[in-house]
Amino acid sequence: MKHKKRLVIAMTGATGAIYGVRMLQILRREPDWESHLVISSAGLVNLKYELDMERSALQALADVCHGVNDIAAAIASGSFKTEGIVVAPCSMKTLAAVAHGFGDNLISRAADVALKERRKTVLMPRETPLNLAHIRNMAAVTEMGGIIYPPMPAFYNRNDSVKAMVDEGVGRILDMFGVEVEGLYQPWTGLNSDE
Ligand SMILES: Cc1cc2nc3c(=O)[nH]c(=O)nc-3n(C[C@H](O)[C@H](O)[C@H](O)COP(=O)(O)O)c2cc1C
Repeated sequence: MKHKKRLVIAMTGATGAIYGVRMLQILRREPDWESHLVISSAGLVNLKYELDMERSALQALADVCHGVNDIAAAIASGSFKTEGIVVAPCSMKTLAAVAHGFGDNLISRAADVALKERRKTVLMPRETPLNLAHIRNMAAVTEMGGIIYPPMPAFYNRNDSVKAMVDEGVGRILDMFGVEVEGLYQPWTGLNSDE
């Protein structure tokens, strides 16, 4: 049977819960896409602290919700077809788990599955400054074909709000999956200079 395109949205306890929330909000408007949400317990703490948002409100944004300890969930198996996974925000702990194939919960397992099936695996790690373990783990994920997309604003866009900055990151990641949403960010088109 034909199904919608599925995208796993995983949220962890790094700061930046708004990135995962915004990704779900955008995907919700896309009729061809089905979002699969999984959030860690630290992610839930930040969701409440940063956005005053409860688990139920977050879950209402997703098409399918999975428990972080439900290692029997569909997204824990490569036989369940998805377009890949976005971990946004991604803590250094979850980055380390993904980098080392340590699938101790459904987030690291789903990322492990995406990597082994050669599906798009995008991590949005958030930490600063970085120690050598963080940098090595990002290199390891990159070597496995994953994409490290830290939430770094492009200042040439002259964004004047946090929302615009978040939308730029969300828009560029969704672009990678072929979800093209107008108006999330302004792509660079050159300076139109004669020089
Ligand atoms: C308010 C707050 C902000 C945090 N920010 C970060 C962060 O930006 N990056 C990070 O790696 N960990 C951050 N942490 C710590 C993680 O939540 C912690 O390492 C946790 O064990 C991650 O678990 P998880 O990956 O299963 O969500 C933060 C914790 C809190 C309470």
